[in-house]
Amino acid sequence: MTKYYKGRVDCIDKLKTHDTGYYESHNNDPDNNTVTELSKYEKLLHSSLKEFYIKNPDRPGKKLKFLELGCEAGCKTYSFLTKFIHKYLDVYYGVDLPGIIKLSHIKNNKNVFLTDTVFNIKEKTIDIFYANAVINYLKNPYTDLTHILNMSPEYIHIHRTHCTTGDEFATLQLTLNDTTEEVINQVGMWFLNIKKLVDLFELNNYELVYLEKERDRTLWDIPKNNEYWKQYSRNNFIFRKIK
Ligand SMILES: C[S@@+](CC[C@H](N)C(=O)[O-])C[C@H]1O[C@@H](n2cnc3c(N)ncnc32)[C@H](O)[C@@H]1O
Repeated sequence: MTKYYKGRVDCIDKLKTHDTGYYESHNNDPDNNTVTELSKYEKLLHSSLKEFYIKNPDRPGKKLKFLELGCEAGCKTYSFLTKFIHKYLDVYYGVDLPGIIKLSHIKNNKNVFLTDTVFNIKEKTIDIFYANAVINYLKNPYTDLTHILNMSPEYIHIHRTHCTTGDEFATLQLTLNDTTEEVINQVGMWFLNIKKLVDLFELNNYELVYLEKERDRTLWDIPKNNEYWKQYSRNNFIFRKIK
């Protein structure tokens, strides 16, 4: 299957297909974490957790409220958390598309709340917000992120996020059948302005404590001399609330 981007629109609402083609990922195997097999993103999460519990003397014993956007059916991050801090986990909020949430086999666990929109989460505060390769697929990313900011998480992890240094735009991401070239799926996807995204957090009393810009990827069918590619980076961000 081939994925590529077609066209450029200024607003995801103009993508006629956005409502019919979501990026869906089931990945229903939560039990594939061992300490030696942690992904880069899990290692980053591990360091925030360590800081959360160890560096701060009033932390041990504090129970964690964790919110993951784009958790997939398997909620892999939940099993990661239960492995490392099971007795300190207060609640795991997982958000994904309705069809994905329905498939999840952890949905009835005691300290789990799964839902299809962040707006169903009514906590005054949460401790860690985690979104890995998700923000770009939201119809209104800044609206969702503002709701998250209202819950004042201490750490915000936003990984694998496609950004531009130029004007924000959305494209249609097509998945084609390799042989017939028939379009199998199409999804609206944002390229967010990196400064605007970082400013959103910095203006809300967060500091950027980790930034990794990945520039050495091929952007599906976009040629490397294309103006979009020159402005492009895929980013891993960690923000920490300033006390
Ligand atoms: C590229 S996958 C990343 C999955 C997982 N976070 C990971 O790191 O492997 C994107 C995820 O976002 C979910 N997603 C797409 N649109 C969404 C939306 N509007 N609200 C919540 N989740 C969404 C997809 O179903 C999928 O689980």
